[in-house]
Amino acid sequence: MARRAIGLELLVLPERSEGKEFETGSTPHSPRAERGGNNALNTLKTAPATMLRIQTKGDNILPEPSDGFISSPYVEDMAKRALAYLKIGYPVHFAGPAGTGKTTLAFHVAAKLGRPVTLIHGDDEFAGSDLVGRDAGYRKSKLIDNFIHSVLKTEEEMKSFWVDNRLTTACQNGDTLIYDEFNRSRPEANNALLSILAERILNLPRLRRTGEGYLEVHREFHAIFTSNPEEYAGVHKAQDALMDRLITIQLAHYDWDTEVQITEAKSGLAREDAEVIVNIARELRSFGVNNHRPTIRACIAIARILAIHGAHARGDDPVFQWVCRDVLNTDTAKVTRGGQSVMKQKIDEIIQKVCEPQKKRPRNPDRSATPKEEN
Ligand SMILES: Nc1ncnc2c1ncn2[C@@H]1O[C@H](COP(=O)(O)OP(=O)(O)O)[C@@H](O)[C@H]1O
Ligand SMILES: [Mg+2]
Repeated sequence: MARRAIGLELLVLPERSEGKEFETGSTPHSPRAERGGNNALNTLKTAPATMLRIQTKGDNILPEPSDGFISSPYVEDMAKRALAYLKIGYPVHFAGPAGTGKTTLAFHVAAKLGRPVTLIHGDDEFAGSDLVGRDAGYRKSKLIDNFIHSVLKTEEEMKSFWVDNRLTTACQNGDTLIYDEFNRSRPEANNALLSILAERILNLPRLRRTGEGYLEVHREFHAIFTSNPEEYAGVHKAQDALMDRLITIQLAHYDWDTEVQITEAKSGLAREDAEVIVNIARELRSFGVNNHRPTIRACIAIARILAIHGAHARGDDPVFQWVCRDVLNTDTAKVTRGGQSVMKQKIDEIIQKVCEPQKKRPRNPDRSATPKEEN
């Protein structure tokens, strides 16, 4: 089995005739079908949100929601809004802090469009040519004519050799473009998108092939963008002209119920444990210097560790205590009192506060947890 990375952590599923399948999770298993194994460590399962099938012929992928995908009313509402814009030709942009489900939602919406997906990840090193293509040097041909042995005639021809890049092939083939974290690329690298999105023409250098300096964008071409807030490290301010062409849907953290469902689905932990973890994360978000952390990723990480160790989200569970301190203690250096970090103390306080009502309730000792891998 070969491994091929496309930005999300992927492992290969067995080959199918039309391509290879990848899950945005890890192992090639259906999490729900295999829930309930005995040995937690041996039964680590996947709970991917999206399954990506990589086409062996073209340079694109086919996304499909998989078992680990939670389709809550919030998720479906966002997807419905995005599809309404995309279907009448508007590009959609999911903006929001890390961990608000932007990438997952982009794949979910793209899957609904039912077209192959071209995936590009924003990169500070990109130039325009990394999107559209470039002149990859010259092809030289030489003709030596010595038909009359006393006359030697040589002819040399140099032709430039153009290679299309992903944006160009997506426009040509009518793929859905997912440009993930597009504002990690410098604004000028994204210039080619302006005419694609407004005039539906891709303006290519005349170097390409004769008569192909302009490319009419395929009518099935759609574009979905995601971005992190401008204040994030490594993120550029997007150009106003590009922003003006996009319909921006702002995403915030999922509602409580969706967060609990995702934590549960991606770890195999019981719902009541998932609820406690989400309550702690949400309480911590209202404290400190970064109101967007901890994200759903922290909830999933804690839940998976608990599941692996057969532990529970209880104030007196030692595994729960150490995993919360490690995973949630992110802004330690920034939240201080008298030069000392108050984060650890705050985490302990919130654990006790959220877990207090549990002490009064007996727990079901038979509750088993089968952990699953996160993407
Ligand atoms: N609807 C969903 N169902 C299941 N898991 C989800 C869903 N939305 C997000 N996740 C999970 O939450 C985490 C963060 O989502 P992601 O799309 O990567 O966020 P972002 O791109 O905003 O940083 C990932 O582990 C992802 O698999
Ligand atoms: Mg993302």
